[in-house]
Amino acid sequence: MTDVTQNNTPRKILVTSALPYANGSIHMGHLLEYIQTDIWVRFQKMRGELCTYVCADDTHGTAIMLKAEQMGITPEALINDVNQEHQEDFRRFNIAFDNYYSTHSEENREISSYIYLKNRAKGHITTRNISQLFDPEKELFLADRFVKGGCPKCGAEDQYGDNCEVCSATYDAHELKNPHSTISGATPVEKESEHYFFNLPNFQDMLAEWIRAGHLQEEVANKLSEWFEAGLKPWDISRDAPYFGFEIPEAPGKYFYVWLDAPIGYMASFKNLCERRDDLDFDSYWGKDSTAELYHFIGKDIVNFHALFWPALLSGADLRTPSGIFVHGFLTVNGEKMSKSRGTFIKASTYLNHLDPEYLRYYFAAKLNKRVNDLDLNFEDFSQRVNSDLVGKLVNIASRSAGFIYKKFDGQLSSEVTEGELIATFQNAAGDIAGYYEDREFGKAIREIMSLADIANQYVDEKKPWVLAKEEGQEKAVQDICSTAINLYRLLVLYLKPVLPTLAEKSEAFLNIEALSWNDKDTLLTSHQINKFKPLMTRIEQEKIDAMIAESKAESQSNVTPAKATAAESVNNASQEAIADEIEFNDFSKVDLRVARIVKAQSVEKADKLLQLTLDIGEEKTRNVFAGIKSAYQAEELEGRLTVMVANLKPRKMRFGISEGMVLAAGPGGKEIWILNPDEGAKPGMRIQ
Ligand code: MSP
Ligand code: ZN
Repeated sequence: MTDVTQNNTPRKILVTSALPYANGSIHMGHLLEYIQTDIWVRFQKMRGELCTYVCADDTHGTAIMLKAEQMGITPEALINDVNQEHQEDFRRFNIAFDNYYSTHSEENREISSYIYLKNRAKGHITTRNISQLFDPEKELFLADRFVKGGCPKCGAEDQYGDNCEVCSATYDAHELKNPHSTISGATPVEKESEHYFFNLPNFQDMLAEWIRAGHLQEEVANKLSEWFEAGLKPWDISRDAPYFGFEIPEAPGKYFYVWLDAPIGYMASFKNLCERRDDLDFDSYWGKDSTAELYHFIGKDIVNFHALFWPALLSGADLRTPSGIFVHGFLTVNGEKMSKSRGTFIKASTYLNHLDPEYLRYYFAAKLNKRVNDLDLNFEDFSQRVNSDLVGKLVNIASRSAGFIYKKFDGQLSSEVTEGELIATFQNAAGDIAGYYEDREFGKAIREIMSLADIANQYVDEKKPWVLAKEEGQEKAVQDICSTAINLYRLLVLYLKPVLPTLAEKSEAFLNIEALSWNDKDTLLTSHQINKFKPLMTRIEQEKIDAMIAESKAESQSNVTPAKATAAESVNNASQEAIADEIEFNDFSKVDLRVARIVKAQSVEKADKLLQLTLDIGEEKTRNVFAGIKSAYQAEELEGRLTVMVANLKPRKMRFGISEGMVLAAGPGGKEIWILNPDEGAKPGMRIQ
């Protein structure tokens, strides 16, 4: 185990979690990572180290651009909204970032350019023409996730551009039969353009050494070695306009691929923080000779970006490389991949509607170790464990002894500690527990702490203060026993504080003490006044879990929450992909189509694609509908005219208000949208949207 002896100068440690994509909500899988990191950081801070935790939203790429377009807002508006939402989720889960920023920032633009230009000056950037599928209607190059067609090997229809889900073949997108763009439905064409490459093979020797120099878990290093044997290839770091991102210096119309500026976002977030913190200096953390420690916590799906491209890019720019990359596995729920239809794709905010965040922090901590294994959130195990460990064991120690102290002794603890040996056992465990935290063996730390909790409960069980309290002349004994129990409880809370910050805070209030830090383990509470005990945590009830799963299911069935893309370049939007699937007559007959008069049409502030329409469909109440047609119509020209609307679409909550239906229009988009008279310009066969 790591030696955790401390000296007087605090360690300078910079810690990051991966930057969540700005096109979806934070969910349980993400939380595994942020909770793991937060526990580690809180532990370091409690020990007095100068530990700084930064993160940001990962905001660039095609997926975000398209999603904003689809919502009828600018990408900037989208990423601002999502940033607020993410920060709120993290705050409520007690993830205590020192800074939470955005990759769409001036700092990030500057540092990205700097790193790119340094690498270019050293000959690490090359350009070459490549041929790619291009959507002639949307006028954009199509990443593999945006092309579908027939598998070239087995003929299965509706397969993505890189691999077939039926026969598992991998291929190039241009080999697909009858390909179509999932964005517009158009048939893609091949088109050449110039791309910029980062010359990874130049770093072959540097990386070979770096990978084996103790920065990585062994299993990760082994995996990377396989890549190595296959040979490193130049990495394509440019994307053509239109793209939401940073334009490459001296390369008009070319943008940095999102994965180039994403890890640089760690630096940008830190830089932004340095501006308001006198004790942090950017160069002393990122310069080549930095003595600061730098750790990235990430999931196993993004290892190559962090353990190959990232150290190479940094070293090519004469910057320091990470001290460690800590890779964790994936979260499964009830033994399976998180699933929307089963209601196990649970968003952070949905969880919070039903359950206390500390339950999840504790459960993850109890199951986490330093390896890359997947971790299962099993709800039966979850409630059983939390109820028995936290409510049954931990809080019980305080609740069964505090009452006596408060009622019988005016809240006063004994003036001396009578159980020196027992207390010493608890204090001496600090070294092992610290070692486990340091090594990210949180499960071992929790086991150790819980076995101490068992000892504390046994002690109270044996001494039976509730029996002594009824006997005469036993006052001092009762006070001593309960004071010992309270001191043991305090030590347990101290050890658990990185995991359970809220429980710790409430306990500090009840114990009437200052915020606990690690070294407070050496002191005890004697002749000390405590406050009245209030319940610190309640049991998990099965109904709460059921309600949470039901809500997740309902969310996934409604169209209010857009699907989260699973990768930067993917959009999981069924409505864009299902182009001409047949439906049953019954399905069609459910749609209530009505002619509507546009009573009023107005533009919507901050939404450059949307018009707000007030529609009269002959009912008493008019309908409010937001339609993404501003690119084709002026608000004024629509007033008084007729259109067709879907009148029984479930109302949708949008950023700007509730949309109570949908108007039908034809055409691919932009200026070509025909809402009123398709004969204005629409062609036969054009899809109605
Ligand atoms: N934007 C990139 C990271 C850029 S870092 C410079 C990204 N974003 S993500 O939102 O998809 O994921 C963020 C982190 O959450 C990643 O480390 C990812 O591995 C982790 N997880 C996402 N889903 C997860 C699970 N189901 N389980 C565990 N971790 C998961 O990747
Ligand atoms: Zn196939």
